[in-house]
Amino acid sequence: MINMAAMPTDRDKAARDLLAFYLEAGADAPVGETATDWLSPDAPDLSPARAATVPPSAAARPVLPPRAAPIVPAQAPPPPAAEAAVMAAREAARSAASLDELRTILEAFDGCALKGTATQLVFADGTPNSRVMFVGEAPGYEEDKSGLAFVGRSGQLLDKMLAAIGLNRSQVYIANIVPWRPPGNRTPTPVETQICLPFIQRQIELSDPDILVTIGQPSTGALLNVQGITKNRGRWQPYHTGTREIRAMPMLHPAYLLRTPIAKRLAWRDFLAIKKALG
Ligand code: URA
Repeated sequence: MINMAAMPTDRDKAARDLLAFYLEAGADAPVGETATDWLSPDAPDLSPARAATVPPSAAARPVLPPRAAPIVPAQAPPPPAAEAAVMAAREAARSAASLDELRTILEAFDGCALKGTATQLVFADGTPNSRVMFVGEAPGYEEDKSGLAFVGRSGQLLDKMLAAIGLNRSQVYIANIVPWRPPGNRTPTPVETQICLPFIQRQIELSDPDILVTIGQPSTGALLNVQGITKNRGRWQPYHTGTREIRAMPMLHPAYLLRTPIAKRLAWRDFLAIKKALG
């Protein structure tokens, strides 16, 4: 005998096709426990600050004693040769009156050894003066080849996340703390970061976004002086551009999200908060 109840219906098939489509689009982790229209203005606020005050199952959770604030080591001063390069970078960055000038100045700047091993400068991608600016760590192989920020696998995921909130990369501006690819994609050293920092700070000031998104811990630490990306992602921070204070949001790096798909639900929440902030 055929069990009719177990037979797939057209609705089941449509639901499965829709899920397959979402999966294809990169949405492979649930945002919450119940189905919700997260793009509706009435959707619940899941930002970490709000979530921390109204946890869904607060009653079931043990109350932990308050923890002392972590001791964050102050950034070590650079060695004397690097200090000269940092000073030169500050002066050079300050002298740029426009993003085009900043790019020309960076192209001529010899104070960071990474320039010698990279194929070319990776200044940015997207549109300057957009309302949202993303800042990552450093270019990888694809970016070094193309001269554009975030065009490899991480950048493709970033594109999908932007699309999920109705944006594309021509509506945002994207750059990195360090504009030259470190050999073998290694993490930039603290000295390399400090030498390049005045340039990205000036790039942010000249592009003048309303919202800054720091991608991953290196960018978050360097620009916002905030340590612990998993704890601080999604939490708005103040950022002073040099001319005004704007809001900054640390987010998980797409490279991490590619390795840890379950964490995409957190990135999705952060993108919803960005969408909301844009109004
Ligand atoms: N990762 C980054 O941090 N920046 C890029 O441009 C590409 C990958």
